[in-house]
Amino acid sequence: MTLDLTTAGESHGPALVAIITGLPAGLTVDRAAVEDDLRRRREGYGRSPRQKLEQDEVEVLAGLRHGDTLGTPLAFVIRNRDHANWAWGMSPWPPEGEPSGKGTAAVTLPRPGHADLAGTLKFGHADARNALERASARQTAAHVAAGAVAKALLREIGISVAGRVLEIGGETDDDGWRRATEAAKADRETLGGVVDVTADGVPAGLGSYAEKRDRLDARLAAALMGIQAVKGVEIGDGFDLARRRGSGAHDEIEADLRRSTNRAGGIEGGITNGEPVVVRAAMKPLPTLMRPLRSVDLESGEAGEALVERSDVQAVEALAVVAEAAVAWELARAAREKFGGDALEDFVGAHRAYVERIRWPRES
Ligand SMILES: Cc1cc2nc3c(=O)[nH]c(=O)nc-3n(C[C@H](O)[C@H](O)[C@H](O)COP(=O)(O)O)c2cc1C
Repeated sequence: MTLDLTTAGESHGPALVAIITGLPAGLTVDRAAVEDDLRRRREGYGRSPRQKLEQDEVEVLAGLRHGDTLGTPLAFVIRNRDHANWAWGMSPWPPEGEPSGKGTAAVTLPRPGHADLAGTLKFGHADARNALERASARQTAAHVAAGAVAKALLREIGISVAGRVLEIGGETDDDGWRRATEAAKADRETLGGVVDVTADGVPAGLGSYAEKRDRLDARLAAALMGIQAVKGVEIGDGFDLARRRGSGAHDEIEADLRRSTNRAGGIEGGITNGEPVVVRAAMKPLPTLMRPLRSVDLESGEAGEALVERSDVQAVEALAVVAEAAVAWELARAAREKFGGDALEDFVGAHRAYVERIRWPRES
């Protein structure tokens, strides 16, 4: 039994669509909780005006009845309100009438740091828009909605997941974040930052060392690195562990099998060890600069300046929400693999029996 997610949708196309398979029947999905996470993703200083336009209403098409999962594929759509401004430019079918609105001219000046050049070369596009529309982080709205469902499932077995911002533009507090973002905006620059995600209530035993693809640390790293603009991932103390001696790097085991430190970030040997799972992700500065970098016009071959279009100054707060969803999704997948079950009560019952088996100290 595994949980899977497939999404589709261009940033300024008609909609994002998603299909989730592998959910048990009988899980209550709270609509307000899903919409709340989508709202959190849109918020934060330094985000573009588009975020005010989008309402991210989740229209469920299958797999849910009266708010409860049916154990069948869960399908949903999130419409792009902004598509109205791109109706000709992003029309799925050959557009009718005179070109109007946005996206009518081909993008031929790829942005350094975005998928424009690599995607255009790879797929043989004449218009870099054909690459950048899907590469865009708009698709993370679908991932956040799926993450909210994953969190609902995890809550049934006592696991909670929370992401937060640690740094924006090198600053470590709220005031600094606001100032750095405003200064970057004034300079027509962009910023990156660092987030962390903590999962509490995770039992020992999710993931495996059997093969490298089974390792939960590897899976979480892939889940986080799969998010646009994430260029670094750490599990627990990560890179800093490399600078310490062994005695300062590992977490001693107490009589109750708990640890007084959690430098490993709750994972040893690719398996959760019963401590909170803690991961960090680093986001590079966003590639769309209002003061564009040097580029080359792929049509004329002339030197030029990269594409400028409506864009965030930084999206680190949004990343915290997207990373939270990614970690929740991966933990929910690992939990489905371990506890299975067609009905929610099978899943919850298998978890309860397992936690009972590993209880410490053992009853004699
Ligand atoms: C939540 C979020 C919002 C983003 N917003 C923007 C944006 O407004 N402008 C931009 O140029 N890049 C933005 N990005 C980053 C690009 O999508 C990303 O850099 C691009 O797809 C290239 O992928 P790569 O950076 O992983 O190589 C955002 C990323 C995330 C996670």
